[in-house]
Amino acid sequence: MTDIVISGSGLYVPPNVVTNEELVSAYNTYVDAFNTEHQREIESGEIEALPQSSAEFIEKASGIRARYVLYKDGIVDPKVMRPMFPKRGEEQAPEMVEMAVHAAKQALEAANKTVEDVDLVIVACSNMQRSYPALAVELQKELGAGGYAYDMNVACSSATFGISNAIASIQSGMASVALVVNPEFASPQVNYKNRDSHFIFGDVCTATILEKKETCTSEHAFKVIASKLKTSFSNNIRCDYSYTDHCHAELPDDNPFFKQQGRKVFKELLPIVVDVITSQLKELEWSVESVRRMWLHQANINMNLFAAKKILGRDATDDEAPIILDEFANTASAGSIIAYHRTHQDLMAGDKAILCSFGAGYSVGCIALEKC
Ligand SMILES: CC(C)(COP(=O)(O)OP(=O)(O)OC[C@H]1O[C@@H](n2cnc3c(N)ncnc32)[C@H](O)[C@@H]1OP(=O)(O)O)[C@@H](O)C(=O)NCCC(=O)NCCS
Repeated sequence: MTDIVISGSGLYVPPNVVTNEELVSAYNTYVDAFNTEHQREIESGEIEALPQSSAEFIEKASGIRARYVLYKDGIVDPKVMRPMFPKRGEEQAPEMVEMAVHAAKQALEAANKTVEDVDLVIVACSNMQRSYPALAVELQKELGAGGYAYDMNVACSSATFGISNAIASIQSGMASVALVVNPEFASPQVNYKNRDSHFIFGDVCTATILEKKETCTSEHAFKVIASKLKTSFSNNIRCDYSYTDHCHAELPDDNPFFKQQGRKVFKELLPIVVDVITSQLKELEWSVESVRRMWLHQANINMNLFAAKKILGRDATDDEAPIILDEFANTASAGSIIAYHRTHQDLMAGDKAILCSFGAGYSVGCIALEKC
């Protein structure tokens, strides 16, 4: 089989930081106003008082300290509690395509490739700003790439599934250089009035270039050794927003938002993740000691520590399983790619590594890599 490499990566970071403290301050002000307004119903037992959030809880329970967002003002305004931004018309590329252009250009530069080389563009992410035409086709136009382009969504595993699709397309001869982009514009899916989830997501965009090893001139390329994908249906992480919504008489208040049963996700998803990674290592006859680095999905630090410990049989160091979610929060499919992007250059030729995402579906994507 033809050897395929990841020859470049890119990262677009939005300009605005929202710290836990800013988020909690807005949330608690909203809660105080709500409780004052509904004091009588609360006292009579008709409704329950809303409890306050806490920055300490957020950091302890998730490892998140801050997140980047495209539009900050509305999020931290207790009277708004959502990102507010003008709707773009047909003449302007939507935010996701705009982010994707930045990340794609960086990835091309890192791979020593030009846009003329690209003949496959995949936009793989958790939310699409529109149903069609595919964002990827608009990105293809904005970049001036040839070939074909499409969107795909496997929630938090979109990036690794997208990379696997790119690998298969190059292997089959359908494409020669693929650009996989993960514009995660996650802040609009967050219910900032929900204490359990108001802190979870941030916005970001990552990109990777895949090509045959024989065409690669990049300084920091990783050969794809194997790719393993797994899905298993669960209702525990959902977003129910749909184009059919306007056909229904009534919709639940939380309809447009991300929602999850966090504890159940922990309990059910982690064994699948550990099984996918350990069985992949076994199939490849790689000992756990031989894996130099694991770029894991970045949703929750406790999940990463647990998974790494189960796999290694001991605690992982930050060098072995780098964490970026303290700075970025959960960035859905982009998380493991940010970790890769930030920490792949120090590996030596022959070093083995794992790129693994996990999330809604449930879905797990695991790619075994070796530094060229
Ligand atoms: C969301 C998550 C951080 C919550 O952490 P947790 O340890 O499970 O916390 P719980 O939801 O059990 O809540 C623990 C307590 O803190 C409280 N709490 C919840 N949110 C709070 C907040 N923002 N501030 C203060 N307290 C809070 C809860 O009410 C609960 O109180 P109780 O014990 O009195 O009932 C965690 O479950 C998680 O990250 N799960 C998986 C996430 C994931 O990977 N999702 C995939 C998406 S891609």
